[in-house]
Amino acid sequence: MEATFLGHSAVRLSDGQTTILIDPFLTGNPQATLKPEEVDADYIVLTHGHGDHVGDTVAIALRTKAICVATYELALWLQSQGCEVHPMGIGGASDFPFGSVRYTIAHHSSGAGELGDRYVGNPAGVIIDLGAKLIHHAGDTALTYDMKLIAERFEIDLAFLPIGSNFTMDIDDAVTATGFIQPKRVVPVHYNTWPPIAADPEEFAEKVRARTKAEPVVLAPMESIKI
Ligand code: NI
Ligand code: MN
Repeated sequence: MEATFLGHSAVRLSDGQTTILIDPFLTGNPQATLKPEEVDADYIVLTHGHGDHVGDTVAIALRTKAICVATYELALWLQSQGCEVHPMGIGGASDFPFGSVRYTIAHHSSGAGELGDRYVGNPAGVIIDLGAKLIHHAGDTALTYDMKLIAERFEIDLAFLPIGSNFTMDIDDAVTATGFIQPKRVVPVHYNTWPPIAADPEEFAEKVRARTKAEPVVLAPMESIKI
């Protein structure tokens, strides 16, 4: 299983057979070098409706015929844009030909549409089973005690956690979240895209090493990790 950081909060997962994009925000993403018309996808998994997460989903899905997996109201909105969708709900899981997707709790907000103010259900995190590895992407979220439930039920191989503060957890909250979730490896995301979410990923990495058993992995945009 190979995971590639596409910048901001966007991630590409591939086990050599199935390619999954999580929150493919490329157009207008100052960290992204990949163009939406260059990207392949079998599935697009979304954490919530905000523009810096839905991003190029509609254009990519219409071109590649990728199935969009999203929470219910966001899935309905994507369907209204012509996408093929698989709606889900927080706490729910579903098997797919590649493995499975499960939605987890996130404390944040969610909106879509031209102004971004159209309510599209709850924001969420996801746990994806691909290539016999468990990948957790927390989406945008505050630190929540519910994260401990993930460690009670699952052994996460690779976690993506936001560290940029302002809209989400800051570095110290994300380090605490790493301790709650207990992933084998943790990648910081959702930082340095714009000034309000400036954060030093090396500070996060140092604190993860000092305070948790996880291995921090700082990825530059388009850098990959194989697990
Ligand atoms: Ni958001
Ligand atoms: Mn965001």
